[in-house]
Amino acid sequence: MKQKDLLYTGKAKSVYRTDVNDRLIVEFRDDITAFDGGKKDVLKNKGGYNAEVSAFIFEYLAKNGVKTHFVEMLDEKRMVVRHLEMIPLEVIVRNVAAGSLVRNYPIKEGTPLNPPIIVIDYKDDSRHDPMLNDEIIIALGIATEKELKTIKTSALNVNRLLSDLMAAQGITLVDFKLEFGRGKKTIYLGDEISMDSMRLWDKKTGESLDKDVYRFEKGDVMAIYNRVARRITQQQG
Ligand code: ATP
Ligand code: TYD
Repeated sequence: MKQKDLLYTGKAKSVYRTDVNDRLIVEFRDDITAFDGGKKDVLKNKGGYNAEVSAFIFEYLAKNGVKTHFVEMLDEKRMVVRHLEMIPLEVIVRNVAAGSLVRNYPIKEGTPLNPPIIVIDYKDDSRHDPMLNDEIIIALGIATEKELKTIKTSALNVNRLLSDLMAAQGITLVDFKLEFGRGKKTIYLGDEISMDSMRLWDKKTGESLDKDVYRFEKGDVMAIYNRVARRITQQQG
């Protein structure tokens, strides 16, 4: 497969066309950002750790019947994916209160959320990703009622599978963000599932094992990303 021209470049990944129909290459860069792009850095190997964890999780989900865009890794940072028409939604699933839920509502950090909460934001940086509801999504024509149902069912299914995967490694899956896109006939899970898009707490110590380490300067971000990547993929460090 040949990498061709750049299709678009985001805050942490670059997406390239290829010479194969329906296939794109997603390159995980070492850029890390937080607070709507207000905090920015380049951390060596960050792209590699996120790519490794994303690939592992996409393969695990596919084995469990989830339709994902993942095809294969080309090298440590480049992932071949199915070209999707992305639906501009950030689908967030929460099992424990943290982050914006605690900032915006009267709920204490660490409160278990049972059943889990789904929050859907509009992926539009210029509008600072405002929260949506089903009626707004349908009125704006972002997704149909049927698509929305598929997306929510899939998000809860992914939550069960990922919570089990993390629990087996002594990690609590606090919350995470998914993005979906349209293939020819069906909706696929796209983008990434990594330490940038999940909030993970060590079950024993409560220690953050994700981008909160960067957001709130809780420690050596890359040492923790490396350790978490080994833990999730169950490889020796
Ligand atoms: P954010 O960081 O808020 O998620 P971004 O656009 O800056 O937004 P990046 O991860 O840097 O995010 O960029 C990757 C882009 O590629 C995103 O716009 C994402 O929606 C898109 N994308 C992911 N998977 C696919 C796919 N299979 N087909 C087409 N586009 C995809
Ligand atoms: P949230 O608590 O809403 O925001 P923040 O982490 O900025 O306080 O985030 C919930 C989860 O979703 C968290 O694991 C990070 C992830 N997420 C993203 O990956 N991208 C996003 O744009 C948003 C809003 C959340």
